[in-house]
Amino acid sequence: MQQIFILKKVRILMVSLFLSVFASNADAHKSMDKIIDEAFKNARSQYAGLTDEMISTPGFLPHSILPDGSLHRVIPSSWVSGFFPGTLWYIYEYTGDKAIRKDAEKFTSYLKTQKNNRKTHDIGFMLFCSYGNKWRLCEKDKETEDVLLSGAKALCTRFNPHVGCTQSWDTGKRGWSFPVIIDNMMNLELLMWAYKISGDPVFKNVAVRHADTTLKNHFREDNSSYHVVSYNPETGVVEKKQTHQGYNDGSAWARGQAWGLYGYTMMYRETGDKSYLEMARKIASFIIHHKNMPKDKIPYWDFDAPNIPHAYRDVSAGAVICSALIELSNYVKTDEAGEYLAVAETQLRALASPAYTAKPGTNKHFILKHSVGYLPGNREIDVPLSYADYYYLEAMLRFRNKVFKK
Ligand code: GLY
Repeated sequence: MQQIFILKKVRILMVSLFLSVFASNADAHKSMDKIIDEAFKNARSQYAGLTDEMISTPGFLPHSILPDGSLHRVIPSSWVSGFFPGTLWYIYEYTGDKAIRKDAEKFTSYLKTQKNNRKTHDIGFMLFCSYGNKWRLCEKDKETEDVLLSGAKALCTRFNPHVGCTQSWDTGKRGWSFPVIIDNMMNLELLMWAYKISGDPVFKNVAVRHADTTLKNHFREDNSSYHVVSYNPETGVVEKKQTHQGYNDGSAWARGQAWGLYGYTMMYRETGDKSYLEMARKIASFIIHHKNMPKDKIPYWDFDAPNIPHAYRDVSAGAVICSALIELSNYVKTDEAGEYLAVAETQLRALASPAYTAKPGTNKHFILKHSVGYLPGNREIDVPLSYADYYYLEAMLRFRNKVFKK
């Protein structure tokens, strides 16, 4: 009798414990809902200001703030050209505001000239963030299809079958005969899209070989990645493993780790190949459990920067990691998914706070502060960057879709 009584008590205790945890989670979710809503309201007004700024320079797209405090504008062949229209597409997706859709269409159209650009591996960033989002959100028109398919074909011309990769930069600098950077994983999404639309296996074969070769040669024992691997274009032999934007050749440049995480997560989604999923999980573990990962989960610009904890943060890397972790949480078991989502939530709360979100009307109308583009080149240090805003809003949408739209 006594035992039954105790058991009943324990059960009641457990149920109330469960309910209180559930209730506090529900509250946390409610407030994340609010945080997301406020983030998009702010994004909408900041980007209205940025769009107004751009009226005076048709054909240009905003990227950052220059050292003299002026707006850094780029031409459509810049690797970052697609992020501004892409961010407008995300704001349109959330708000449904037709005027923003018009702006997104206008700035997207600036990139049409790039559809046959064979001089850059970044064509995926450029066209998939702009035209790719247009394709996803609007009626499927022939012109958009043509731009994206042409861009994918242009990217394939950079593929070298001896190496098994598409070439990143056309440069002989630092003795790199055929440099491939980890960032290039991001451009494979355009190829996978082209494969699905056209049915032409060439696009998929190029993407898969690039991902396989990168998996083999870019990663270290601890699952961090080199930034640049340069190959002999005739034999495919690896000649150099170095960095361009990181602290040193052996360091873990934060955005490079972010591109790798996002790229392998995306390639798992597109192919179902478990080796990509495993790579993504290993990168996630490297990032999340790194001794130099700050409490708010916004990384320093390089995990091995010499002056940690006084090193600059890179908000762009944080935003890319956040977006990737939310997607990766779809492909793993509950505990692991919970860990990824908890990190992502910490990141989103931090990014939405005044520590990283600019006051309305400031920051040249970019949303986020404190990114690092190219510290060793003494460029874009502790500034807003268009791609930080892009992946931040993408992460907000992914979090909303995952947590609130089941
Ligand atoms: N793709 C160049 C960068 O991440 O800075």
